[in-house]
Amino acid sequence: MNLILLGPPGAGKGTQSVLLEKHFGIPQISTGDILRAAVKASTPMGVKAKSFMDAGNLVPDEVVVGIVRERLQESDCANGFILDGFPRTVPQADALNESLVQLSRELDAVVSLQVDIHALVERLTGRRTCKECGKGYHVTFDPPAADGTCSACGGELVQRDDDHEETIRRRMQAYHQQTAPLEEYYRLAGLLLTVDGMSGIEDVQQTILTGLQAS
Ligand code: AP5
Ligand code: MG
Ligand code: ZN
Repeated sequence: MNLILLGPPGAGKGTQSVLLEKHFGIPQISTGDILRAAVKASTPMGVKAKSFMDAGNLVPDEVVVGIVRERLQESDCANGFILDGFPRTVPQADALNESLVQLSRELDAVVSLQVDIHALVERLTGRRTCKECGKGYHVTFDPPAADGTCSACGGELVQRDDDHEETIRRRMQAYHQQTAPLEEYYRLAGLLLTVDGMSGIEDVQQTILTGLQAS
């Protein structure tokens, strides 16, 4: 199964891809997670990406295209992959098509999560992430067993640097201007699976799985 998860900031791409990763036994590839790890490690790529991410802007296409091209060639992608947050521009989508042709692979579906703007802001401001293992939570919708502590590893839960009002607004703008056109791009390719992302985490997962079976 070769999948893309598309959706605005806070739509649940990360949450759903982790569940799909378990369900299908194929890796989640989040360009956001890879970039945040590079920033944390102060690699040359991380240093370059940081200012874009802090401002809520997209990192230049050539950086993320390079990351995904290399990642798709790793052995754990042999049975499939779940791309979370990539592609985000038409040039990225074109570059992905080229990589897939080279690898003799094809996309099965592009899952587009639909969530209204008020719910997105509520999800982003309440999101907490484990500093140690990266597991995601929400203070109201998916709380840890003990406040501020990861239920999986006991690590400290923190807010993401870009989950603040002004940056959220800019990320939403970037989504509407640069990423939303991909819905039409993949609709024309016959790959778009539109999913109502407004219900609970488990229900959304079920809707995705049912939709994938039917597609
Ligand atoms: P990235 O990390 O991808 O951020 P994003 O797209 O803004 O998306 P988020 O991770 O914020 O949201 P999500 O959809 O994963 O939601 P989540 O599941 O966490 O990218 C960050 C930055 O990196 C970009 O701004 C850019 O600078 C750069 N970048 C990354 N990829 C790039 C690319 N391809 N090109 C260029 N630049 C790139 O859910 C959110 C919260 O809601 C959680 O707390 C969760 O528990 C909760 N939740 C989830 N589902 C539900 C539900 N159904 N009901 C209630 N709560 C829910
Ligand atoms: Mg995410
Ligand atoms: Zn943890």
